[in-house]
Amino acid sequence: MNIADYRREYTQSGLNRKDLAADPLKQFERWFKQALDSDYPDANAMSLSTVSAEGKPSARTVLLKGLDDEGFTFFTNYNSAKGQDIAGNNQVALLFPWLQFERQVRISGTVEMLSPEASAEYFLSRPLGSQLGAWASDQSKTIASREALSDQFNAIAERFKDRSPTTPEHWGGYKVIPEAIEFWQGRESRLHDRFEYRLVEGLWEVHRLQP
Ligand SMILES: Cc1cc2nc3c(=O)[nH]c(=O)nc-3n(C[C@H](O)[C@H](O)[C@H](O)COP(=O)(O)O)c2cc1C
Repeated sequence: MNIADYRREYTQSGLNRKDLAADPLKQFERWFKQALDSDYPDANAMSLSTVSAEGKPSARTVLLKGLDDEGFTFFTNYNSAKGQDIAGNNQVALLFPWLQFERQVRISGTVEMLSPEASAEYFLSRPLGSQLGAWASDQSKTIASREALSDQFNAIAERFKDRSPTTPEHWGGYKVIPEAIEFWQGRESRLHDRFEYRLVEGLWEVHRLQP
């Protein structure tokens, strides 16, 4: 295997300044809708990068569960490693790697917790198994075995056997409020199209970036 020889040209399409929406969230919606409409697998999967209070970065995949004029919503365990990073440093980055479309979208900004009511509304819409899983998993902590995890799950299932699970206090949503959003479309000879929207005094400015 020669990894250095593994490459391809990006030729599917281009991105023009005149075709961009004035608001990057609208532009994001267009690309996201195209991905959803073409049954792109896991189109709502995004990489979330956080930085600890000590400056140590880490990235992991989460699912986009909401999009509005303010930003991008995902749900997780507030006590997890990412939750602890966010508690100490609210600067985060998101990445949508829509590689089959030769596209990526990069987002950076700050993150805010959703209200307990908004988190509960989503939690209660989830399948029962996911609700119990959120209670059963002390996300990011070590555990001795798969059996120990099953025991935790079974204990929770027993606790809620006669009633619907409530929303755990340690679980809920975050909204990423963007300050910069970049749309990248692969082009031939690595001369890709890149447009970066940046929030300047409350208004979005757009610039083409060199690839
Ligand atoms: C496709 C995919 C979707 C995922 N979605 C979520 C999610 O929405 N929320 C979440 O907490 N973890 C999700 N995970 C698991 C995270 O990547 C990660 O393992 C977990 O949140 C623990 O991260 P942390 O220890 O850095 O906090 C997903 C993983 C994959 C591969």
